[in-house]
Amino acid sequence: MNQDEQKRLAGRAAMRYVEDGMVVGVGTGSTVAHFIDALAERRHDIEGAVSSSDHSTRLLKQHGIPVLDLNATGELHLYVDGADECDDAKCLIKGGGAALTREKIIAAASRRFVCIIDPGKRVRVLGRFPLPVEVIPMARSYVARELVKHGGQPVWRDGVVTDNGNWILDVHNLHIADPEGLERELNQIAGVVTVGLFAQRRADIVLVGAEPMP
Ligand code: A5P
Repeated sequence: MNQDEQKRLAGRAAMRYVEDGMVVGVGTGSTVAHFIDALAERRHDIEGAVSSSDHSTRLLKQHGIPVLDLNATGELHLYVDGADECDDAKCLIKGGGAALTREKIIAAASRRFVCIIDPGKRVRVLGRFPLPVEVIPMARSYVARELVKHGGQPVWRDGVVTDNGNWILDVHNLHIADPEGLERELNQIAGVVTVGLFAQRRADIVLVGAEPMP
C-alpha cells in the first residue's frame, strides 16, 4: 500500500473519535486533508471545527464546515492532526507545514489528541526529521546561535512566513533522547515562539494507517 493510501486510511480511521455535536480541532497537512474529506461527510452532525492554519481553514470552508474561534469554544473534546515523526512514547516532531504554533495551542486546549500518520513517520529516536522552530524574525540569528550550542544545525526556511508572521528554523542533526527536557530548554530561548517538539503535550492516540499504535 502506498504512503498516500496509508494517510487516507488514517484520516478516515480518526472519524471513530468524532461524536455528534462536537467542535473538532483540526490540524494541518496532507494526512489531515483526508480527515477533512471524511469529516465533510458528517458536517451536519458536528457543530464545527477549530482550525490550526489558514490552509486548513480554506479546506474546511470549501467543504461547508463552520470554522469557529477557539476563544469562543472553550476546551475541545478532540484534536486530530498529523506529524512528521512519532516515537514509541507518542512524542512528536511537528511543523513541517509551518503550522506548529496554532497546532500546539489547539493540542493544549484539547482533552484528546488523536495523531494520524503513515508508517514512515515512526522512529525509535526523534530527530532524523529536522526540528522546526518558529522564531520572531528579529531573533533569527540569535536563536540560531543558541541552537548550535544545543548541538543542532539550524537552517533558515528561507521564503516561508508563518500564519503568525514569523520565520522557521529547521534544526538538523539532533538526536533527541529526552524530548520533554529539550522542549523545555528550547522554549526558554528568547525569541522562540514555538518548538516543534510535542512531548509535554504529546498524542493520546496514534493511528498508523487504520491501526492504533500500542
Ligand atoms: C504541519 O505544520 C505539520 O505539523 C504536519 O502535521 C506534518 O507536517 C504532517 O504533514 P503530512 O500529513 O502532510 O505528512
